[in-house]
Amino acid sequence: MKLGVNIDHVATLRQARHTKYPSPLAAAELCMKAGADGITAHLREDRRHIQDRDMEALSKAVPRLNMEMAVTDEMVRIASALKPAHCCLVPEKRQELTTEGGLDVAGKFDHVKAAVETPSAAGIVVSLFIDPDRKQIEAAKRCGAPVIELHTGAFANAEGDAQAAELKRLADAAEFAHSLGITVNAGHGIDYENIKLLLRDVPHLNELNIGHSIICRAVFIGLENAVAEMLALMSGYQK
Ligand code: PXP
Repeated sequence: MKLGVNIDHVATLRQARHTKYPSPLAAAELCMKAGADGITAHLREDRRHIQDRDMEALSKAVPRLNMEMAVTDEMVRIASALKPAHCCLVPEKRQELTTEGGLDVAGKFDHVKAAVETPSAAGIVVSLFIDPDRKQIEAAKRCGAPVIELHTGAFANAEGDAQAAELKRLADAAEFAHSLGITVNAGHGIDYENIKLLLRDVPHLNELNIGHSIICRAVFIGLENAVAEMLALMSGYQK
């Protein structure tokens, strides 16, 4: 299973003071040195963390860059020009702290399908960030998206029986998507504790995209060590 490290929060720190540091590109290089398979960065419409110049630099230096982006003409244009290896379409709201909920592929089918087709034609592997829901998975398949990223936020925020129920939803969704021939990634809210449950119960995971917990851990033990710790937890996973 692969690890994609989301480095948005390195840019969040920089933007907090409008300094030139810390550099998301330098962070990406350290993550890859520590063994991360890919780097994820979200160019938000409001540019609250990653800036256009970051995405340009990352797209030149990172072989497995995953550009997270809203389903807008502007983002589709930028992705098609920069040609990251992957892009992940996400819903975006101005007021949210972070991506809330998955993309409503079933409800906005034609719009999402068009946003899958253009980057795909440019050679980009497109994934859709969706809730673990059969209807959304079927719609992703009909859109022609080869990859989905299951939203693990509800699982990460729940406790006790509610968390067990969310874990079951994720496991069923992964099984269903795999049966349709879709590659299954997962992300959002995954940390050094809850990852153990995910890896125990959810089959067919190809890649995890993790940001907040790794950058937080890096404050205490450094970025390379924080990435290495996460990779060590992931190493025993059997699909
Ligand atoms: N995957 C997607 C699609 C996201 O939007 C985010 C948050 O930017 C992540 C993964 C990473 O989530 P976290 O920072 O909670 O690990």
